[in-house]
Amino acid sequence: MKTANVIIIGSGIAALQLAKSLRCDLNVIILTKSNVKNSNSHFAQGGVAAAMGENDHPHKHYEDTLEAGRFHNNPIAVRKLTAEAPSLIHSLIDEGCLFDKGKDGHLLLGMEGAHSEHRIVHSGGDATGKTIIQFMAANVNPQIEIIEDIFVFDLLMDELRKTCIGVRGKYRDGRKESFFAEHIVIATGGCGQLFSYTSNAETIAGDGIALAYKVGAEITDMEFIQFHPTLLYIDGKAVGLVSEAVRGEGGWLVAEDGNPIMDGIHPLGDLAPRHIVSQTIYRYLKAGKQVFLNISKINGFAKRFPTITALCEKYGINLMKGLLPVVPGSHFLMGGIKTDLLGRSSVKGLYAIGEAACTGVHGANRLASNSLLEGLYMGKKLAEWINKSHSHKPFTPKLNKESNQQMVFSQPLPSTTQIQRSMMDHVGIVRTKEGLAKQKAWLESFEINKLLHADITELPTEEALKAFMLITACLITDSAIKRTESRGGHFRQDFPYENDNEWLRKQIIQCRLTEK
Ligand code: SIN
Repeated sequence: MKTANVIIIGSGIAALQLAKSLRCDLNVIILTKSNVKNSNSHFAQGGVAAAMGENDHPHKHYEDTLEAGRFHNNPIAVRKLTAEAPSLIHSLIDEGCLFDKGKDGHLLLGMEGAHSEHRIVHSGGDATGKTIIQFMAANVNPQIEIIEDIFVFDLLMDELRKTCIGVRGKYRDGRKESFFAEHIVIATGGCGQLFSYTSNAETIAGDGIALAYKVGAEITDMEFIQFHPTLLYIDGKAVGLVSEAVRGEGGWLVAEDGNPIMDGIHPLGDLAPRHIVSQTIYRYLKAGKQVFLNISKINGFAKRFPTITALCEKYGINLMKGLLPVVPGSHFLMGGIKTDLLGRSSVKGLYAIGEAACTGVHGANRLASNSLLEGLYMGKKLAEWINKSHSHKPFTPKLNKESNQQMVFSQPLPSTTQIQRSMMDHVGIVRTKEGLAKQKAWLESFEINKLLHADITELPTEEALKAFMLITACLITDSAIKRTESRGGHFRQDFPYENDNEWLRKQIIQCRLTEK
């Protein structure tokens, strides 16, 4: 058993920014399922959006964020995020983090979809996440304990079941350990691995959200999943991200016959919001036609995009031919654990930041390169809150003794591949009432309600992870059934338009404690 002041589950940009910004007298433990190099943040290519160009202004960034989010966003959150973006970048630069600069010493600002200005600050060409994560990991307070390869499978509640006071984790060798703290922070990312095609790290499977839901936290906006238009597509598999910055530098999408596919679809063409581009590619793929990203007009591709170049080389793609086969795949969850703008969830003692959380800032579809930015922003805001509010009063947690029940299930859990395929087919880029109902029935056949109460302590880690995947899959499917319109990352063929009268800014909130 270990005790700390703050326990952070996850090790992406939000987690590290929080850890780096907490008071030095606080005892902090980071628990990560894998290691610091294995997060979505580490893989992020494009960069960090910030209005730093001569003609740019945070208000323009604000407007672009609302437009991409289809006005489902919390405008106060967007205003604060976009206003603070330049100073978050300046702080990193002042601390010594390196971003790409031109010969004149000015930051190079990239362009991505749905931005009205060049405002993507990047590093190492297309290795922005890696640079920032390495920089932060090297600069966190050395007293902070980072425990790798530990899977958190339970949140611990106090005797009244009102306050979160700890977590239980399992090491690779099967050993279990309890950790207690006044502040428990979920920074486990989204749920990309619930779908067969994804840009996400292997560890990102929605477990943090399922954990929070299990203890009664409010979960919201789960129907909004962003499918990134361009993942490299090799032998029927998505093998890695091809950044939108490639289209920002002049790449364009073509069909097998070489014709551009985005002409006449949206005024921004290849740089239209991601849901529009993904839905367009999806239609081609459904008709059995492959789509390619034409990069033949990008000068110095290998220098500007070294990560993508290495990925293509690994899979034997000849860049001289200028055509990369692509497929859309799940990339980002706009919904998550509902929090305020300090990262506080509806459960006392439990916080969420980064992609696991939903402050409402991204609305129905996140604007490109606003995710690393959100991680930087919310990590800092939560640190400010904890730094201010934490008093060193003695912490004497009284654990709820009611244990979860041993349950007998009528059938074994499905395989990870079955979960991913069924989610991709029925709750993917294009959804229908029939497909969603089918998925719901399939998920329910695994007795989700029992899973929520079950003692999963004795389950092997892989099985426990699948249980969490099923719970999160159910949250997404239920929300997608309820939202009878299309907006951003949620597209229903049977309700193909936005319905502002009924749905504008209406959030679907799910909470176990208030559900019948
Ligand atoms: C990309 O580089 O296309 C991804 C960046 C993002 O999701 O913001």
